[in-house]
Amino acid sequence: MNPTKPTLLVARAMFPDALARLNDYFELELNQEDRIFSPDELTERLQGKFGMICTSSAKINQDLLAKLPELKIISTIAVGYDNFDLQACTQHQVMATNAPDVLNETTADFAWALMMATARRVTEAEHFLRNGEWQKWGVDFFVGADIHGSRLGILGMGRIGQAIARRAAGFGMDVIYHNRSRLSAEQETVAHHARYVDKESLLRESDHLILALPYSPESHHSIAAAELAQMKPSATLINIARGGIVDDVALIAALRNRQIAGAGLDVFENEPRFHPDFLDLKNVVLTPHIASASERTRRAMVNRAITNVIAAVRGEVPPDLLNRDVLEM
Ligand code: DGY
Repeated sequence: MNPTKPTLLVARAMFPDALARLNDYFELELNQEDRIFSPDELTERLQGKFGMICTSSAKINQDLLAKLPELKIISTIAVGYDNFDLQACTQHQVMATNAPDVLNETTADFAWALMMATARRVTEAEHFLRNGEWQKWGVDFFVGADIHGSRLGILGMGRIGQAIARRAAGFGMDVIYHNRSRLSAEQETVAHHARYVDKESLLRESDHLILALPYSPESHHSIAAAELAQMKPSATLINIARGGIVDDVALIAALRNRQIAGAGLDVFENEPRFHPDFLDLKNVVLTPHIASASERTRRAMVNRAITNVIAAVRGEVPPDLLNRDVLEM
């Protein structure tokens, strides 16, 4: 190993050609077999490292950081960083970065894919066909809900929420949203044709409700039994944000009792495990956290994480630094 270069752990398998850019700056420790490290193994592998490129599977907390005095940067390829304790990072003088923006459009596409599949019962119908159950066509055969001309609700109007809203114009949808802060009047009317409403109105009035807010202790179980009870019985709920924003047990009950018509879920509490009762329900479309998974976008996410660690090793401020207060330490 060249002792003049700092070492970097790339904690998950990533496109090998994309990683080549790192060789000018770092000795690399790779994990191309893509094992998920236990907290102990992660601590061991990070000993003496300058930094790490990781995904949401790496939990970065006080315990871990206290054992890693040489660590300077943790760089996730994800936009979501609920796996990072930012306060602890700052306290241990570790820069934390994420990969915003590059996945907005791809994730918005997927929110639409899930919404359409859920409303029009695409996976349920496909299972029916694959199971050899198709005997005849019928007038009420797999009838679902329209997307065009309906009302789209968006909870969380950040960059991904806005990208979801922009797509609604082509379908003649009425868009309402709720967010911690309201968009400017120009963004609302010119760019997104979206109307700000309080959360209760959003729940009551949406035909299709898409969740696009970040996970935090404040957003934990933002959609639970009380919220589901306010939704229309004909409504669909789509979660492309994070597990934990929805109370999955409450959602299963609401789907089972037809309190809402259906759900499209890309994220789950405790994923990659998920509540097994989802599998018994026909009115739910289930995907394994793939909303940002187009090859172009996943490469862009990896590249963004690489740019952040390279900036750090060059003594520059990483463009996506999350804990700016670390610079004052
Ligand atoms: C993100 O970028 O946060 C996606 O959910 C992938 O983890």
